[in-house]
Amino acid sequence: MTPQVVFDKQKLKNPPLQIHYLGERVLRQPAKRVAKVDQKIRQLAQQMLQTMYSADGIGLAAPQVGVNKQIIVIDCEPDNPENLPLILINPVIKSYGSSMCDGQEGCLSIPGVYLDVKRPEAIEVAYKDENGRPKTLKATELLSRVIQHEMDHLNGVMFVDRVQNGLVLTEELQKNGFSVQAVKPIK
Ligand code: CO
Repeated sequence: MTPQVVFDKQKLKNPPLQIHYLGERVLRQPAKRVAKVDQKIRQLAQQMLQTMYSADGIGLAAPQVGVNKQIIVIDCEPDNPENLPLILINPVIKSYGSSMCDGQEGCLSIPGVYLDVKRPEAIEVAYKDENGRPKTLKATELLSRVIQHEMDHLNGVMFVDRVQNGLVLTEELQKNGFSVQAVKPIK
């Protein structure tokens, strides 16, 4: 029997992990590959899911909870108990679709800020699941966007680094108490 990650979508008053915010250094450090997917990693992934659900998020990357590992969790339908969450360990994007699209993004590490980001519309990603099995996934639309956003976190990149409208970016960050100095624009 392979142990499964147990999860529920309860919102906890005291989630197991603490989320870090834009401006904190831990968010800018590249994450390390997971050498072995073991029970500790599964437990961490489950705690990340509990923390994500509790904060009303649809994606969370390990650096956001101060853990320097290549792990992301995603659930694009957090209110649907039948939609299983995704756990992606050591994810690598194998290919990008040719078309780009704009979409609004937010981030649990930058609460209150929602801005448009241009990204490739489709991707194919290879990763290991919570049992260490290699998988590939083709994603479009919201799922594709969330995977790309979370994978950026593994490289120390925040979605605001990709926002092209500098005026709106500055305004939104200041309105929500964040410093523009914390942004590292991507050329
Ligand atoms: Co984020």
